[in-house]
Amino acid sequence: MMPIGPLMIEHRWIERVIADLQLRLGAHSPRKPIDPAYVERVVDFLRTYADRCHHGKEEDILFRDLEQKALEPGLVASMRELVSEHEWARATTRRLVSAHASSAAGNKDSMADVRRLLADLASFYPKHIEKEDKNFFRPVMACLSTDEQQAMLGEFARFDASLIHEKYRRLAQDLEAES
Ligand SMILES: [Fe+2]
Ligand SMILES: [Fe+2]
Repeated sequence: MMPIGPLMIEHRWIERVIADLQLRLGAHSPRKPIDPAYVERVVDFLRTYADRCHHGKEEDILFRDLEQKALEPGLVASMRELVSEHEWARATTRRLVSAHASSAAGNKDSMADVRRLLADLASFYPKHIEKEDKNFFRPVMACLSTDEQQAMLGEFARFDASLIHEKYRRLAQDLEAES
């Protein structure tokens, strides 16, 4: 398998959550608050899976290795654009978390912000994924040898294995800090 295999499987899971989010937003009256427990679950998915696990492997491993290759200028420009889109998604998710906290504290105006930010993320992810799947992943694989691709798959697996420890060690530290 090429390293883009696991990344493309992750894309399919992100698409499923985003399609479900779009359905919920479409079926939901704009005047009613969105279930706070749902917002927390979708934020956890976006932060832990879509950003830390998925964008993490793209940026910290795939893009890092591609920086060492003589990519054609169009691919270099695409890689810069993808990184800035990841930054946008991260910042938008942070804004969603703070709008959600404000809405939970009773601020009625923040409810509309939660809805708008969820809609922004729902329209962002399919376009970002399509750009990678159709125009970036396959051409960049040609820049890596079979050995480099195998090594990258191994590094992806080690990266994924470290995440559960990272997530729950942080939770443990947060719990300690709060007591
Ligand atoms: Fe990406
Ligand atoms: Fe991706």
